Amino acid sequence: MKKIFIYLPITFALLTASCDKEEFNSDNSIPEYPAANIENLRQSPYPIGAAVNINTLKNNQEYRNTVIKEMSSITGENAMKMNTISKGRKEYSFDDADYLVNFAQENNMRVHGHTLIWYKHTPDWVANFSGSAEDWKTIMKEYIHDVVGRYKGKVASWDVVNEVIDDKGGLRDCVWLKNIGPEYIELAFQYAHEADPDAKLFYNDYGHEYSHTRRYTVNHIADSLAQKGVPIHGIGLQMHTNVNRSENDLRYAVIAAAMSKLMVHVSEFDVAVNPDSKKDVTFTDELASRQKDRYRTVTKAMLNIPESQRFGVTMWGVHDPSSWLSSNPDWALPFNDKFERKPAYDGILQGIYQ
Ligand code: G3I
Repeated sequence: MKKIFIYLPITFALLTASCDKEEFNSDNSIPEYPAANIENLRQSPYPIGAAVNINTLKNNQEYRNTVIKEMSSITGENAMKMNTISKGRKEYSFDDADYLVNFAQENNMRVHGHTLIWYKHTPDWVANFSGSAEDWKTIMKEYIHDVVGRYKGKVASWDVVNEVIDDKGGLRDCVWLKNIGPEYIELAFQYAHEADPDAKLFYNDYGHEYSHTRRYTVNHIADSLAQKGVPIHGIGLQMHTNVNRSENDLRYAVIAAAMSKLMVHVSEFDVAVNPDSKKDVTFTDELASRQKDRYRTVTKAMLNIPESQRFGVTMWGVHDPSSWLSSNPDWALPFNDKFERKPAYDGILQGIYQ
């Protein structure tokens, strides 16, 4: 325990050097929030949400009820990806995205748009497009203007670019980098801002909690864009983590991102209990407890950054069977297959309220 406290003041010395002291909890105590007679996550002092699968949202009433009861923010797991929406140049299928936005509006939820530009799942017509750099800028501008413009005032925020660096800290190869060059990143933010000046725009990536190179590079890119006057408002930390990750690493990932003074969104949070993909593993009490500790650590870390920077914590899924990791199996989410609250759920509350 001693090691953790030695570690944290150093971090805070770094942080408070660049930020106003009153914004941080000077004694690193968690602010007193209403006692823990909390009925659901929607009462959290900052948005807690989930990525949702549209088909499951439509067809599974318990899934739907859990989202409505617990989540104050939702992200389309796949509903707003380019390969879902874009069927050709200026040809769109907005059915899933519209359903997500209408559901959110009916249930007073924030919508986070994921994701405008990503190296994965580029539609065939884009992958096969040929033209000058200006032509590529035009098709990217058209797409972003049409999508962000359609949801102006309805989608609060966007992952404008997703996973733009590789594991060596260089820019990841993709059609946009190849045909426009590195400026595709700032142009994507510019186009999104033109389409909806009020939307909060994020650079979303992964590895902050386990890779110094990835953490440093992501934070540096975001900070550099902001310093250059690019309309970037936040950093998304995907945080697909597991029970073997040290809690200090998780905590520092959140705090380091806040040094940029941009908003911080833990955007795809899940805690896998079977990171080695063993087939004979069972979800033991010990694994549940380690998972709970990590949920608590991250929701508590969000309270250790300035309130103005707490965009929220979004889990990547609702209940274990709906997780992208379910086949592993990993039991990575706060609700089990019967939509019952797991110890991880209590960990979320303890991180915020104790
Ligand atoms: O909808 C089609 C269906 O019609 C078809 O029959 C089926 C088989 O081909 O595929 C279905 O689409 C799948 C889609 O999920 C919806 O289930 C895609 O193949 C599959 O690739 C896609 O996987 C998603 C993955 O991103 C790739 O887009 C996962 O659900 C989603 O959880 C995962 O999320 C990503 C984030 O966007 C970015 N960060 C990492 C995270 C985990 O990989």
